[in-house]
Amino acid sequence: MALWGGRFSEGPSAALAALSRSVEFDWRLAPYDIEVNLTHLDSLLATGVITAGNGEVIRAGLKALQVEISNGTFTYNEEDEDVHSAIERGLISKIGTIGSSIRAGRSRNDLVVTDFKLYLIDHILSVANEVVKLIAQINLKSQELSKTIAPGFTHLQHAQPILFGHELAKHSQSLLRDVDRIADWLERNSKSPFGAGALAGSALQPTPEKSAEVLGFLGVLENSIDAVSDRDFVAEALFIFAMIGVHLSRIGEEFTLWSSTEFNWVRVSDAYSTGSSIMPQKKNPDVAELARGKSGRLVGNLVSLLTTLKGLPFAYNRDLQEDKEPLFDSVETLLTILPALTGMVATAEFNEMEISKGASAGHSLATEIADYLAKKGVPFATGHEVAGACVKYAESNKKELSELTAAELNSIDQNLGADLIPLLNPSGAIASRTSIMGTSEESLLDQIAHASQRANEAQAWISNAQNSFSGMMRL
Ligand code: ARG
Repeated sequence: MALWGGRFSEGPSAALAALSRSVEFDWRLAPYDIEVNLTHLDSLLATGVITAGNGEVIRAGLKALQVEISNGTFTYNEEDEDVHSAIERGLISKIGTIGSSIRAGRSRNDLVVTDFKLYLIDHILSVANEVVKLIAQINLKSQELSKTIAPGFTHLQHAQPILFGHELAKHSQSLLRDVDRIADWLERNSKSPFGAGALAGSALQPTPEKSAEVLGFLGVLENSIDAVSDRDFVAEALFIFAMIGVHLSRIGEEFTLWSSTEFNWVRVSDAYSTGSSIMPQKKNPDVAELARGKSGRLVGNLVSLLTTLKGLPFAYNRDLQEDKEPLFDSVETLLTILPALTGMVATAEFNEMEISKGASAGHSLATEIADYLAKKGVPFATGHEVAGACVKYAESNKKELSELTAAELNSIDQNLGADLIPLLNPSGAIASRTSIMGTSEESLLDQIAHASQRANEAQAWISNAQNSFSGMMRL
């Protein structure tokens, strides 16, 4: 059903209808559209545009549609242009043309952005929830592996020994920042655009603050033209989703590498692996690879929306219909990949022996020698030179630094005493890094405890926010 046509002498061409039609994807907004319409009905009753009697009929019609939408008995048809026209058609078919009274005093321009914002608030909180679940699993694994010594890498080359739990726990930090970004997004974007009408505000909706409150918003936007054209909240959400995607891709990359035969650091459980159609022996870490691969579309969706928004003049333009598919895609991609990745992490078995094996290889203790000399007051450049000489000596004698004797060290430089020996092993090097962010076990355990506390706090505010925006039913 079209919501316009009075001034047209012929109907839309099939080509225009096909181009214009958004109902296949914007049907996801149906539950929110009903909520906004119910709220709008209250405004029209308050201003006397709709009589109490008609109001009851319309309310009953909307409520009946709400149930039918949620159980799938009412849906769009071939002729519906978008979710708003489908719902108005449904209402009119239930209660007659009086159903169209609900259209007074609002425009699809403020309706669509309000529906969309409510959808996004609801779903960004679901994403936050899934991110918190992943953080909880990472924290658990970090704790389990908080004694496992591992080689730490820079440039994918052995750098310095670390605890493997420290390596894992870094992912909780980046994901906690993503959750913080969502909290910050919610605070800035909980303003209602409803009541902006087509662009100028609505004479029949004098108190949009009231609708905003009923819908769970924390206030209203201050400029009606901005309200119908602002999609910053979508772009910001797409950035957050892209950032989460980038973080997941880095986790994916590490698990893919660690599960290779060459590394053999982790065994991904069967439930989160796939086989090959031709090579019977294969077990592939597809969850990790898809986490890595899907970040591409998450980044693409952000770029797509920013490109759509660039240079748009004045208030609503039909280009803005293009805001929806990228967002739906990012939300649905994350809500699919996050539970899979969480399951993969939770069930992964780490091969601690193999992980620890290379911790002192690659002369990764050279920094300990330079640090030891620095503590003795030797200028760092000199210490660095001496440490380099030790590496050279060890290499030409086919030894690791940890295998050098006190006499050998002393012959390289007289400042190198026997007290260096206990530091020249991975445990000593790790234990010496006791600062708040360091890799010593005690620092790591504090770090994990703090990350867990932050995750619990996040869980609490997410539930709170979900409750204040409740009333929305999901399709
Ligand atoms: N389907 C449209 C969208 O998603 C709804 C708003 C249409 N407004 C209009 N003036 N044609 O943006």
